[in-house]
Amino acid sequence: MNGELKFYLITDTHHYAVKDLGYSEHQDQKCLNETGAILDAAFEKFAAQSEIDIVLIAGDLSNNGEMASHLELIEKLNKLQQAGKRVYLITATHDYTYRPDGEQEGKTAVSEGGTSRAMLRGLYEAFGFREAIAEYLGDNLSYVVQLAPGYRLLCLNDDGNGRSYCGYDDSHLAWILDQIKAARESGNYIFAMSHHPVLPPSPIYPVFSKRDMLGDYEKMSTVFADAYLEFIFTGHSHMQNIGCKTTEKGNTIWDINTGSLAGYPTPIRKVTLDANALTVKTEKLDSFDWDFQGKDPQEYLRDRFDFLINDIFDSMAYDFDHFADLAGGFSMDRKTAYKLKTPIKLAGKIMQKLTLGKAGRLLFIRRKIDKSVRGLLIKDLLVEIVRNVFAGTEHYSPDTPEYRAVMAITARLAPLVRRLAKGADFARDLPGFVAQIIYDDTPDNDAVLPVSHPV
Ligand SMILES: [Fe+2]
Ligand SMILES: [Fe+2]
Repeated sequence: MNGELKFYLITDTHHYAVKDLGYSEHQDQKCLNETGAILDAAFEKFAAQSEIDIVLIAGDLSNNGEMASHLELIEKLNKLQQAGKRVYLITATHDYTYRPDGEQEGKTAVSEGGTSRAMLRGLYEAFGFREAIAEYLGDNLSYVVQLAPGYRLLCLNDDGNGRSYCGYDDSHLAWILDQIKAARESGNYIFAMSHHPVLPPSPIYPVFSKRDMLGDYEKMSTVFADAYLEFIFTGHSHMQNIGCKTTEKGNTIWDINTGSLAGYPTPIRKVTLDANALTVKTEKLDSFDWDFQGKDPQEYLRDRFDFLINDIFDSMAYDFDHFADLAGGFSMDRKTAYKLKTPIKLAGKIMQKLTLGKAGRLLFIRRKIDKSVRGLLIKDLLVEIVRNVFAGTEHYSPDTPEYRAVMAITARLAPLVRRLAKGADFARDLPGFVAQIIYDDTPDNDAVLPVSHPV
């Protein structure tokens, strides 16, 4: 590990070719119509500086596998390459509309204008695959590149069956472990990029849908750590998080999970790696070519993000079918949503006007709610808490009145939730669970992570 390695990383660009496909009315955390302008601004930022020439992209390149979106993105990538930047990317489950081998659940036929999984390597050959020093031929989309003398990157495709299981099968895992071993034995430090998180980006994440995690993530994180794979960059959750786990053998793995570029706060990781540490900094776009309706660009994106959460609260109360439609967006499947319909609807209705003070009074804990926050609508506080989870800024520490109020209410409601959510993991220790959501004292945006096993 002579010298240092520097690179940028973005993920979940979800590019949508609005010119070809038409204006999208879709309301989501992702800003689909804006993706082209966002990408242009990000790529111009990369091209305009000379400190870093490597750009990594961790999958979900296109909105939903539209060929037009891929082709437009590739045009932009070509331009970035012509500006002297080296791009290494992986594809993920939003990048194809069907898989010809029929393994895929859900996506069955090729829709007009779609992309098959088998086409992806050819489409993106110039952005990693061509430079591969090893490829996993059983799957065709995982590869290894030599980023610089002494530094290798494992680019892992974890599509699995594309739905109920995203991860690696046994032969894929054996190949991965071989690559780690071969790299280290030849004096190269190796780290990885895969789409699905290997450590939960928030405690709330695996609770609703484990399938959004990398398959067998508990085992996989241990296997990786014990093979001395210390850093893995992931996406998919659209959340900013830096998490770690230390195995029984005392080895640590860090998952640097990065939020979607196509929405608030347009996170861009700037990374430096040397023999001592991996240093992560997070930057965001100050602007891009768009009509922000008089707002600051970040404020515009934040309002778009908040709209989604407010829409969820409103639909909980007044339009449950719409709520079930939205549920997938935060990893709750329709079945689970309908199973919990009664408590969700009730909560939605109460939520519309409920302040922290009123909740305190109803629950006979008014004295525990500080005067300074009694007028705060719980709905608004929750919107902010959710936004903080996605942006990696869970800042309500135990000494804030907001934290104390939320925890007092949670403690009061815990027995009821335990009864309603029969046996669910999170309900066993609801206060502990909620505390982890509102406050995370490990930095998710800027951090210096130690290298324990340099080569
Ligand atoms: Fe994804
Ligand atoms: Fe995504």
